[in-house]
Amino acid sequence: MKVIPYGKQDITQLDIDGVVKVLKSDFLTQGPKVPEFEKTLTDHTGAEYALAVNSATSALHIACLALGLSKGDWLWTTPVTFVASANCGLYCGAKVDFVDIDEATYNMCPKKLEEKLIEAKVNGTLPKVVVPVHLCGQPCDMQKIGKLAKEYGFKVIEDASHAIGGKYHGKPIGNCEYSDITVFSFHPVKIVTTAEGGAVVTNNKKLADKMSLLRSHGITRDTEQMEGESHGGWYYQQIDLGFNYRMTELQAALGVSQMQRLDEFIEARHKLASRYNELLKALPIVLPYQLENTYSGLHLYVIRLDLEKISLTHKEVFDCLRNNGVGVNLHYIPVHTQPYYEKMGFSENDFPESVRYYNTAISLPMFHTMTYEQQDKVVQILTEVIKG
Ligand SMILES: Cc1ncc(COP(=O)(O)O)c(C=O)c1O
Repeated sequence: MKVIPYGKQDITQLDIDGVVKVLKSDFLTQGPKVPEFEKTLTDHTGAEYALAVNSATSALHIACLALGLSKGDWLWTTPVTFVASANCGLYCGAKVDFVDIDEATYNMCPKKLEEKLIEAKVNGTLPKVVVPVHLCGQPCDMQKIGKLAKEYGFKVIEDASHAIGGKYHGKPIGNCEYSDITVFSFHPVKIVTTAEGGAVVTNNKKLADKMSLLRSHGITRDTEQMEGESHGGWYYQQIDLGFNYRMTELQAALGVSQMQRLDEFIEARHKLASRYNELLKALPIVLPYQLENTYSGLHLYVIRLDLEKISLTHKEVFDCLRNNGVGVNLHYIPVHTQPYYEKMGFSENDFPESVRYYNTAISLPMFHTMTYEQQDKVVQILTEVIKG
C-alpha cells in the first residue's frame, strides 16, 4: 500500500542542476551561494539582513544569544510547538516557561500572555525573550505581541519555521515589523527546503553582526572588529564564543532554486486547503481557522475531532487513517509534557488548552504536489473512518 505522506519536498531538475553546478565549482562551503540565498530571503521578506544557517534550531540558538539571553533569564514560548522553540532558551542557561494557546488559532494566546506578564511583573519574573510560533503557517497576532513587548520590555523572536510565504496585515512574515528576529526552517517537510537548513532575518545591524559571528566560531576577518593590528592576509581573530552553524553551498543552491517557486508552493497549498475546507465541512471536525487580516503559509492542515459526535477515540481515528495509507501526523505533543520538561516541574494541567488541542488534533497530508486524486482518497478514508 502506498502511503500518502503528511508532507513532502518537491525537487525539480532545475533544483538538481543548481546543486550539481555547485558540486563542480570551487566552493562547497563559504562561497557565493549562501549570500545569494540570503538575498532571496531579504528580497522576499523585506527585512534588511538575512543569515543562512544549518537548521532552524541553530538559528533559534544564535538569535537567543544575540539578544543576550543567559543564566537567570526567562524565555517564554507556546507549548504547542516543536521542542526546539523552547530548547533554545535552555541552551543559553535560561529558564523556560510557556503561555497557553488560543483555542481558535492554536497559537500563543495574546490575552493569556498579557495576564502572565502582569503576574510576572509582580513576581519579578518577566521574560527577556518571547518566542511566538506561527503554527501551521498561521501568523500569530504580532501587533498585540509587539505592543506587549514594548510595554513589558521583552524581546521577540518569531519562530516562522512553518510560515515562509505567509502574510500578516498584508506584509510578508519575516519583515520583523513587530519582532527583533524571525527564524525560518528549511527542513524537507517545510514549505521551502535546503535538506537541513534555517535562517535568521532581522532589521537590526548589531544583531545581524553578532549572529554572523556566532554562526562561525565567533571568528572575524574584519580588521575593524579586531583587537590590535592584523598580522597579515591570513589573519583572523576569535572575539566571541561561537559555533559551526554554517550552511553549505550545496544547500544554499537548493534554497536559491526553491525560493523561485515560493509563490507557486503557497498558491498550491491554498488551493488544497480550500478544497479540504469544502470537502470536509459536513464532518464532525473543526477545520482550520484563519485569523483576520492574515494569509497562512499553510505548512500544515490540522483538523480537530469532535469526539462527542464520533464513536472512535482520537487514537483509533489516527491509527485507522495510518493503517489505510493516510500518513497523518500530530503537531505537536505539548512541550511541557515531555519527560525532560516534566522533570523541571511542569505538569500536564499547567496549559489545559494545549492539552485539549493535543487530544483532538490530526495533521492531514498537505504538500504542494499532492494531487486532487490523493486528496480525494484522504477525504474518502477520513469520512469512512469518522462515520464508522
Ligand atoms: C516550530 C518549529 N521550530 C523549530 C524547528 C526546528 O527546525 P530545524 O529542524 O530546521 O532545526 C521546527 C522543526 O520542525 C519547528 O517545527
